[in-house]
Amino acid sequence: MKIIALILSIFTTFIVANSDIEILKKAKKANLLPIPNTKIELLKIINNQKNPSTDAKIELGKKLYFDPRVSKSNLISCNTCHNLALGGADGVSVATGDKWHPNPHHLNSPTVYNAVFANYQFWDGRSTTLEEQVKGPIQTQFEMAMHKDILPSKIKNIIGYKEEFKRAYGPNVKITFKLITDTIAIFERTLITPSRYDDFLNGDFKALTPKEKDGLNTFIDLGCTRCHKGIALGGFTQPFDTGKRYKYRNIGDFHGNKNHLVKTPTLRNIKETAPYFHNGMIWNLKDAIKEMGKIQLLLGISDKDAQKIETFFGSLSGRKPKIKYPILP
Ligand code: HEC
Ligand code: HEC
Repeated sequence: MKIIALILSIFTTFIVANSDIEILKKAKKANLLPIPNTKIELLKIINNQKNPSTDAKIELGKKLYFDPRVSKSNLISCNTCHNLALGGADGVSVATGDKWHPNPHHLNSPTVYNAVFANYQFWDGRSTTLEEQVKGPIQTQFEMAMHKDILPSKIKNIIGYKEEFKRAYGPNVKITFKLITDTIAIFERTLITPSRYDDFLNGDFKALTPKEKDGLNTFIDLGCTRCHKGIALGGFTQPFDTGKRYKYRNIGDFHGNKNHLVKTPTLRNIKETAPYFHNGMIWNLKDAIKEMGKIQLLLGISDKDAQKIETFFGSLSGRKPKIKYPILP
């Protein structure tokens, strides 16, 4: 009996391992890439050689990220709309900034977690680096409304910051708008969230449940990976609602860049970042999955398949970096 049980267990292990290998191969073929699990490989991707990182710069960037004094009103920080305790987003349909102004294009705040892995930033993909991106929200009237010439003197007048900039950049540092924004970008480059999905792609077959593997399979089979691919599961610009129309296309006036391309959002931590789509009009994740099928793939996705994909999406909720809320200078 024992021998039969042993043979059976070897046999089933072999079958499971074999189908796991098949899914892994298929995922790699569909250009799904893990967050690297070695520090050297990871740093190659997240570090920007033109804006090199150190621990002191990361710490200073974190303070600036959480500091509402970076805004004109002294009330709004990056963390107001990209709340690191709320999946890196804000949980409302329309971003709301200075003087309680809603975004005039009815745009939703995307997550900052894993933004470093995207090739393009903003819904229309108008920036290619975080360093360039961060200059936008600080100055935008309906976001932080801060003048770029005023911010450096405001920061210099806070004695503690002067000291911290010296510690990070040396005694002769000149605090400029660019240095402030580059420092925030250095902190943003650390906001990555490896998940069980990455563990699976890195070869730990037990990291996903059988249902999640089934969902991953469905996600690939239906063609979602045509656009949601790479480490970010997105981050490239794509045509949007050119065939079938998006149900809420007339809420706000955003229809992509001049070529009608829209930045494909990351799907990492997607369960934490409702509401969905550029105008934040869809709250239910299954509805978002079905809407995607309809407009991007001209497919009617069944409840069952939408459920499978949603189950797979659970594995994209990542391990957040441990962030100690900073006491500001
Ligand atoms: C009032 C809310 C608000 C504030 C404050 C704000 N953002 Fe944003 N952020 C948004 C919105 C809305 C977008 C999308 C705008 C667009 O595409 O035009 C965005 C886009 C981004 C993106 C691009 C993400 C992607 O997937 O395309 C990053 C990165 C980002 N913000 C970082 C920051 C940083 C850093 C700060 C602080 C300096 C900041 N934001 C302040 C609302 C805000
Ligand atoms: C042709 C490219 C393309 C394909 C194929 C595609 N997507 Fe998307 N996806 C996008 C773009 C672009 C957006 C952003 C649309 C917007 O908000 O304007 C998006 C948005 C989403 C969102 C909302 C994300 C958020 O944070 O708001 C989800 C969820 C999603 N897609 C899931 C899927 C699933 C599941 C499939 C397969 C059934 C799929 N997508 C197929 C390009 C694509």
